[in-house]
Amino acid sequence: MKIAIGCDHGGLEHKNAIVEHFKERGFEVSDFGIYEQISVDYPDIAVKVTSAITSGECELGILVCGTGIGMSIAANKVNGIRAAACSEHFSAKYTRLHNNSNVLCLGGRVIGVGTAIELADLFVDTAFEGGRHQRRIDKITEIEKCKEI
Ligand code: RB5
Repeated sequence: MKIAIGCDHGGLEHKNAIVEHFKERGFEVSDFGIYEQISVDYPDIAVKVTSAITSGECELGILVCGTGIGMSIAANKVNGIRAAACSEHFSAKYTRLHNNSNVLCLGGRVIGVGTAIELADLFVDTAFEGGRHQRRIDKITEIEKCKEI
């Protein structure tokens, strides 16, 4: 599995820990930064990670900012992206099972590094359930078609 990952200055430590962990697990990781503790605008990173997914280069993505919320708002503006800001295990699992989310957003100022790694693992290890949930995803895709760009 190839995973895209990125963060702003609120999530550097968490992002780096997840990158290292995923590499140890044998995943291919595309790390879109940041790579040092500089201040950046989270939408710029969200665009890089989501583009890697919509282009087909990566299957799933992880975005880390201070809360996970800014990244999720930005990522969800992109057609084909279903981003979920999660801070506990149940949501990280069920957003894959039921929402077929393709981006997990985490808050570096909300959860610790250990929890972030656990949630990232749960997210990438859980498959979409399909069935009745596919109908709901299709309705979300219909909403995207109403967008002007
Ligand atoms: C940056 O200070 C902070 O606003 C950002 O990381 C994030 O929490 C936004 O939602």
